[in-house]
Amino acid sequence: MIPALAVYGVEKRFGATQILRGVDLAIEPGERHALIGPNGAGKSTLFNLIAGGARPNAGRIDLFGAEITRLAPAAITRRGLARSFQTTSVFARLSVFDNLRCAAMLAERDRTRWWQRFSGSRTVDARADQVLEAVGLSARRHIQAGTLSYAEQRALDLGLALAGGAHTLLLDEPTAGMNRAEAARAIELIRATTAGRTLLMVEHDMDAVFAIADRVSVLVQGRIIATGTPAAIRADAAVRAAYLGDNVRT
Ligand SMILES: Nc1ncnc2c1ncn2[C@@H]1O[C@H](COP(=O)(O)OP(=O)(O)OP(=O)(O)O)[C@@H](O)[C@H]1O
Ligand SMILES: [Mg+2]
Repeated sequence: MIPALAVYGVEKRFGATQILRGVDLAIEPGERHALIGPNGAGKSTLFNLIAGGARPNAGRIDLFGAEITRLAPAAITRRGLARSFQTTSVFARLSVFDNLRCAAMLAERDRTRWWQRFSGSRTVDARADQVLEAVGLSARRHIQAGTLSYAEQRALDLGLALAGGAHTLLLDEPTAGMNRAEAARAIELIRATTAGRTLLMVEHDMDAVFAIADRVSVLVQGRIIATGTPAAIRADAAVRAAYLGDNVRT
């Protein structure tokens, strides 16, 4: 089977500092994959390379078998990959609904000609409505996005990716800054709304990883030291020594 996302021998240096040292990763279509590892291991750097925000010094990245290594971020987005940042990227002064409409409209624009767009606005509204409901923000429809709570903004952020029609999602620490109850709700929301899509997620909270991930990869000092089921990873001696134990090396 062609992986949804494949990373081959990716290396990244910043100046003289080698951050990624030959990363290999293959994620099946529809798989939920968690990337864990100590602070500074290179997780966000890897996401940035996949999303086109920077280029690797070596290696190759494929999305459904087509190389995306040197494409611009917008071109990668058009191919169905969406990335959420550690901070949210909503338009603060637009309503929740209009934020979703913008995301749906951008995706629609790529599929249709300009003269079809007015009739296409019903499709856009319907899509925005459907996502609004899915991410649990129906009651917040007309509220300015900037006034949402932090957890709600993250839900909207996820909604933007869904409204854009992404089949592959990169979520970088989606529960960061949340309390336990909010984090559990966020993970449940991600689980429910990403069914059938491919998900690669950086997450420090092991409860969250266990609740959602089919497989886990562990990045330590720029190398994947283990990939496996959450249970196998939790039992892995090398992983425990490098990361999960209290002896965390960075
Ligand atoms: N643009 C940059 N220029 C120089 N160094 C960078 C740059 N971006 C990241 N780094 C360095 O690369 C290393 C890896 O950073 P990265 O953000 O990828 O780690 P991470 O695994 O996401 O960590 P965290 O869990 O804290 O989010 C860090 O030492 C960081 O300081
Ligand atoms: Mg990071």
